[in-house]
Amino acid sequence: MQSEPVTRPHLLDRALAVGTGFRKEAQSAIRRSLHEFDVLEVTVDHYLHGTPRVRERILAIADELPVVVHGVGLSVGTAVLPDKAYLDAVADFVERVQAPWYSEHLAFTGVPGRDLAQLIPLPRTRESLDVLAENLAVVRAHVQVPIVLENITYYFTWPQDEYDEVTFLVRALQESGAFLLLDLENLRINASNHGFNPVAFINALPPGIVRAVHVAGGMREGLVHIDSHNRPVSSNVLQLLARTLLRQMPDTIIVERDDALDAFDEVVADCQHVRSVVAGFDISNSASGVKAD
Ligand SMILES: [Fe+2]
Repeated sequence: MQSEPVTRPHLLDRALAVGTGFRKEAQSAIRRSLHEFDVLEVTVDHYLHGTPRVRERILAIADELPVVVHGVGLSVGTAVLPDKAYLDAVADFVERVQAPWYSEHLAFTGVPGRDLAQLIPLPRTRESLDVLAENLAVVRAHVQVPIVLENITYYFTWPQDEYDEVTFLVRALQESGAFLLLDLENLRINASNHGFNPVAFINALPPGIVRAVHVAGGMREGLVHIDSHNRPVSSNVLQLLARTLLRQMPDTIIVERDDALDAFDEVVADCQHVRSVVAGFDISNSASGVKAD
């Protein structure tokens, strides 16, 4: 069923909008702090599977603040064409909140009839690239906004990998006509766990390919860094943000927080820290102002 469209300021009136992700557990704190955010990121699956009250609150917030749409239910790397009913529901929500693009994860999360409830890394192979391009063509036929894919954390790699991570990522985006949601905490964690240089990764990304950025705070268990989204954003991630802004001009920078949400003042502080980094760049005169569209 089509919902009524809303009229509100468009997100793309500005670049480098700073905000956080809507979480129902923090909805009162988010509402109290709306003035701190330029944008909110809403996970479409939280809306589609939400109670009527949660859906109502999401739409109420979307009437007040620009919204970008994220997703966890697509499983774009599964070698089966995406569920068209799901895509139509995503498209309806994207239109309802007038989102400028739709982001998902470069991963797979299941097969028809079985949800793994995990973001699983794709084998970095030619075959995976073909599956992605075919699936994203179907997504594009249903959802009439640009598609943005996020780099995930991974705790293993496949023995059949043919490419390193950044080579595979850039090929996947360029061959399927998608943009990148660069999660800098995921990059930091992967670089630490798998032993590569995160700055070299950032420098390997073509200018204009990063449409959005995530930052978050994670933890460490023994020798392994975990993507826990329960702590303030680290100074390492803020430094990676500064490196990114030398070459890219994302529309949005979203602070992700999924746990310890009672300390919501930390999310507000994280947004302020992000703004401090952004303030160091002259947006109008930046070499990163090369938009790919
Ligand atoms: Fe993320």
